[in-house]
Amino acid sequence: MDMRLSRRGFVVSAGLTAALAAQAKFMASAAAAERVGLKDAYRDRFLIGAAINTDIASGKHPDVTDIIKRDFGSVTPENSMKWGSLRTADGGWQWEEADLFMNFARQHNLHAVGHTLAWHGQTPESVFKDAKGAYIGAADLAKKMEAHITTLVGRYRGQLHAWDAVNEAIGDDNQMRKSHYFNILGEGFIDKAFHLAHEVDPKAHLLYNDYNIERGGKREACVALLKRLKSRGVPVHGIGIQAHVAVDGPSISEIEQSIVAYAELGLRVHFTELDVDVLPQVWNLPVAEISTRFEYKPERDPFKNGLTTAANDKLSSRYEELFKLFIKHKDKIDRVTLWGVSDDASWLNDFPIRGRTAHPLLFDRQRQPKDAYRRVLAL
Ligand code: XIL
Repeated sequence: MDMRLSRRGFVVSAGLTAALAAQAKFMASAAAAERVGLKDAYRDRFLIGAAINTDIASGKHPDVTDIIKRDFGSVTPENSMKWGSLRTADGGWQWEEADLFMNFARQHNLHAVGHTLAWHGQTPESVFKDAKGAYIGAADLAKKMEAHITTLVGRYRGQLHAWDAVNEAIGDDNQMRKSHYFNILGEGFIDKAFHLAHEVDPKAHLLYNDYNIERGGKREACVALLKRLKSRGVPVHGIGIQAHVAVDGPSISEIEQSIVAYAELGLRVHFTELDVDVLPQVWNLPVAEISTRFEYKPERDPFKNGLTTAANDKLSSRYEELFKLFIKHKDKIDRVTLWGVSDDASWLNDFPIRGRTAHPLLFDRQRQPKDAYRRVLAL
């Protein structure tokens, strides 16, 4: 009786011990997997990056710094190297924020991408006008571009590994965008930006960067532009697919066709601004043109108090599908950069409607890893 009891006792406790040990092992390996982080999990595939704002770059959010140290191997300045951030009204330079970015990247030994040298957005009108308010001519704009690009690329020469040299030169009509740059200098403004950057920093990897070029229509326009640039001997080394995508589109096969099309041109593929919008889109064409604005309405902001289980599952599955595709084409892809670290700081909280609660990234508003993070890590 005693023996049976003790035997029984022994059996039970052995079963329990085994179960506990298994559970402990599982938890330890889950914790270890979380500690490993994305950048190490993807080390043999491609770089994992994030855009960072100035608060992050100045170390104001130690929890975000920790995430970056563990999960991200590359950083892009969200705003601090844009014309409007760097230049004063009288054409001078204010380097504080850009330097903070560069210092952060150096301090944490991160691959760093400059963003951006020629873009119609966040560039004051005054750049393109004279004192009387008339548009300047080609020679004057060329001179301004030369001063801007040689100074900026020169300052960080050898520290920025890549540049989104030209941003968004193709319009939503799939024609060349009628920006001031284009109107004044023609398509040659693109050539100029690339040549200038290449002369100053010949080792920097130069990208043409744009949105919606992962979908048909704009993809063909982009391929045609890249072919023209290459035929003119423009030093373009890679394509930056911004990839501001939604949970339900564009399709994986659309994106795949795009990866293949750009790689066939001999270009390295970078996903430069990935985020996955779960909020309702109230416009016909998904656009990332930053001047686009729509009115706030509560029904356009359905996840104010958090994602529903269904929405969260959709987001996680979408991230998993996207990264499966990226892994499939890892031989063509150098980097996948998310446009932000955590949802609280995503630009989509204010674009294209101000004041919504967006959930497009891998870390939530409390800066905790989301299911999407764990799914991407597990791949
Ligand atoms: C966005 C920033 O995230 C915002 O903080 C800013 O107010 C507007 O610009 N495409 C780009 C990025 O190339 O520079 C944009 O960044 C997002 C769309």
